[in-house]
Amino acid sequence: MTIVVGVTGGIAAYKAVGVIRGFVLQGHDVHVIATEAALRFVGRPTFEAISRNPINTDLYEGVAQVRHVAIGQSADLIVIAPATANTIAKLALGLADDLLTNTVLVSTAPIVIAPAMHTEMWQNAATVANIAILRERRFTIVGPASGQLTGTDSGVGRMEEPEAITAAALSVLEKSAVPERAEGPTRTAEAPGDLSGKHVVVTAGGTREPLDPVRFLGNRSSGRQGVAIAQAALNRGATVTLIAAHIEVHPPAGATLVEVATALELQRAVTDAAASADIIVMAAAVADYRPASVQQAKIKKTETHAPLNIELVENPDILAELSAAERHGRVIVGFAAETEPDTDALLTLGQQKLARKGCDYLVINRVGWSTGFVSESNEIIMLDSSGDIVMKASGDKLSVADRILDVIASR
Ligand code: C5P
Repeated sequence: MTIVVGVTGGIAAYKAVGVIRGFVLQGHDVHVIATEAALRFVGRPTFEAISRNPINTDLYEGVAQVRHVAIGQSADLIVIAPATANTIAKLALGLADDLLTNTVLVSTAPIVIAPAMHTEMWQNAATVANIAILRERRFTIVGPASGQLTGTDSGVGRMEEPEAITAAALSVLEKSAVPERAEGPTRTAEAPGDLSGKHVVVTAGGTREPLDPVRFLGNRSSGRQGVAIAQAALNRGATVTLIAAHIEVHPPAGATLVEVATALELQRAVTDAAASADIIVMAAAVADYRPASVQQAKIKKTETHAPLNIELVENPDILAELSAAERHGRVIVGFAAETEPDTDALLTLGQQKLARKGCDYLVINRVGWSTGFVSESNEIIMLDSSGDIVMKASGDKLSVADRILDVIASR
């Protein structure tokens, strides 16, 4: 496939080299368009050596071949990494003042962008609005991640790691080009807007149940899979409410964010949002129990060294309640994170849980000390309401999210 990689002028341009290399190693024909500013960070020979093609920068070179049209028409996929706030603003407005923005306007290929900028720039209302416009136009936005920025400060705005960008971009390319080989419903290039007009409510992360002002009972859910579902739903045109309990990743721009701490807060938030929801995906790890009473002062160690007993009371089962309530046609999806190593036993556990919860679909994934919760990828089995397997998927959490939405959208 022909992939055009646009590199714009941010320090993360050095990481674009890894993105280009990832595509080349997978056998793609990569053509780099670097802006003048990008070439202040990384030199032309580096891009040419890694991409194995001459790079393109100037709109006024090779005018006789109308290069922006030629490159734009030949691209199967355009990936812009890093995408600066300036380029994002130009793309949102449809400006065309350099070779890259001209090429984007010519092309009908899917476009993936990996923003990179300081936190303040990413959170600026102008950038938020521009990103929302690009999402509406079906651009796929990968990242940004949170962490150390260029200076001594840290926060959200770091470009995603090259491997994550390459994986997300190739999954977009695969979906736009050929039917997927995995089991279950597949989706074609028309699908990106298939959730347009739908309100999707996603819960993500893990609740924390306080014991005293400084301690809680919690779990290791990072919220990555739930956030990926929210992002994938946005990419497909949905209006998204993300109910987030202590997520470790940045929520996607464009989603309405409701932050909650405990299971009872999550219950309130999801019940409010459910009223207008068409689809509810309960990806959050909700505590089944909470301390019967919350101490107002820090619990002290006793002099007797006697064991400390904490009484727990059961939390409401939000998923079961939502499923039992009047549905008005809304689709409800639950998650089951299980440590069971045997696949048949895992399936049985999932089927039993589905019967208890009464939801339309259940997504089963195996979790353990090092799998599931905090990892970037996932492996899932999706059951329908009769307990039959409707889909199996594995891969990065964004592509798994899309497979889950494929099933829901095909309903
Ligand atoms: O029973 P278990 O916690 O394994 O069920 C997991 C599913 O049920 C998830 O979709 C989770 O969001 C939901 N859940 C819930 N309320 C609870 C516990 C779990 O909605 N109290």
